[in-house]
Amino acid sequence: MDRKEWLKSAVFYEIYPTSFFDANGDGVGDVEGIIRKLDYIAGLGCNGIWLNPLFCSPFRDGGYDVADYKRVDPRFGTNEDLVRLFKEAKERGIRVLLDLVPGHTSDTHPWFRRSAEAARNEYSDYYIWSPNVWTDARGEGLRTVNGMCPRDGNYAVNFFSMQPALNYGYAAPTEPWQIYWRDARLLPLRREIEGVMKFWLGLGCAGFRVDMAASLVKNDADKSATCALWREMFSVVRGEYPEAVFVSEWSDPPRAVGEAGFDMDFFLHFGACEPAYMSLFRRGAESVFSRGSKGAFAPFFDTFAQMRAQLGGNGFIALPGGNHDMVPRLADGKDEAVVKAAYAFLSTLPAVPFFYYGDEIGMRYQKLDSKDGGYDRTGSRTPMRWNGGKNAGFSDAEETYLPVGEGESAESMEAREGSLLHTVRALARLRRTQPALAVSAELRVLQKEGVAVYERSGGGQRLLVAVNPNGAAVSLPFAAGKALASEGCTLEGETLAFTDAGYMIAQI
Ligand code: NOJ
Repeated sequence: MDRKEWLKSAVFYEIYPTSFFDANGDGVGDVEGIIRKLDYIAGLGCNGIWLNPLFCSPFRDGGYDVADYKRVDPRFGTNEDLVRLFKEAKERGIRVLLDLVPGHTSDTHPWFRRSAEAARNEYSDYYIWSPNVWTDARGEGLRTVNGMCPRDGNYAVNFFSMQPALNYGYAAPTEPWQIYWRDARLLPLRREIEGVMKFWLGLGCAGFRVDMAASLVKNDADKSATCALWREMFSVVRGEYPEAVFVSEWSDPPRAVGEAGFDMDFFLHFGACEPAYMSLFRRGAESVFSRGSKGAFAPFFDTFAQMRAQLGGNGFIALPGGNHDMVPRLADGKDEAVVKAAYAFLSTLPAVPFFYYGDEIGMRYQKLDSKDGGYDRTGSRTPMRWNGGKNAGFSDAEETYLPVGEGESAESMEAREGSLLHTVRALARLRRTQPALAVSAELRVLQKEGVAVYERSGGGQRLLVAVNPNGAAVSLPFAAGKALASEGCTLEGETLAFTDAGYMIAQI
């Protein structure tokens, strides 16, 4: 059996650890808190978790500024806690992906501190430096920081200023100080990053979501060097851990999967997928999933089909309902029926669905001041609302690290018949159990305007899926057999009759 067979019916749940559940009452979420909520995640039907970074960090970019790749930040607990999480998750049939940030570190990372020293040492080439403070560390789209270090040079920045770019070299150096990406001087860094992956895989994680995976080699316009670098690193790591799963933040699946060798790439709100992704959920009243919209699914389906065809059966597209970077949250600007339709869409496409914590209970964006370098994203990272108690059941602390917002809780949704939470659970279960909904099963789009109608087939099963994103009352001439799940729609002979936003998933 394919070692990664489980991915075909996988449903992932993304957790921002600061805000999921605070077990020790200090106001911040922690690993122990995630362990205590594993039954909730398993009950939701998810068999995969992606954890945003929880490594030692000054948190000037939500932990994407790593100061020690091999240690859990004390804010969240210990390495032992994380290993226990892997084990407890596994007992419930859940695999855990960590967040790997290979493109940059925090400027407090010991490697950077050594690299910034005036005297040459073994870390001097770990980061990209210009030869003196009067020269920029040039490269396509690179920004630099100058005058901050004892070293006479400027360092290249991969994202924020305190995230110096690790040095995987240049595909086409244009200056004598730029190191060609295949130069042996760069191998020690590669070995370190491979070592980080092996370290956590050895402790029981299932793989990694890889941050800014396209960013490694500089001046690499067609990304061929970056892709080759990934293939080489994968062959080292997969040699030892063949079952390890890698999902990239690249937003260009043909390249990330087809060329770089990732198992999956996210279809996201930037890069090659941007217009198609944004058209679905995040264009306010113009979104496809919006009451009164035209239901213009064509931009999404056209891009998706084209990209899927280019994957060549090597891996999959991962489709998130939202994530810690997306503003606003999925439920913003939508009523419950429309959000349910969005979940039906996410759960029935040949793409691996990723649900962002709290979206399953309709949590909304909160306008907040920036914390931990979140800027406007901070409002999409607030504490999970568990119940009607103190701090919505997130924490016993007098004050929580991020403020708890308003809205329904998981407990009240649980008690309310027909709530979004019940729908998400039913859809995730369906996704996990119906062979025709597997990511590898076929998709045939029958209608891409107004109501999306498509056929999924595989494993001896054929299903008709219809998703109404806008609430229009319409009758459509599609015949189907037994309905497996539906809301806002009934089957009347040869007709699908929608009375509201919703979905129909039926056998044919
Ligand atoms: C993408 C991450 O998702 C985001 O949160 C972070 O700020 C940047 N990469 C930089 O690591």
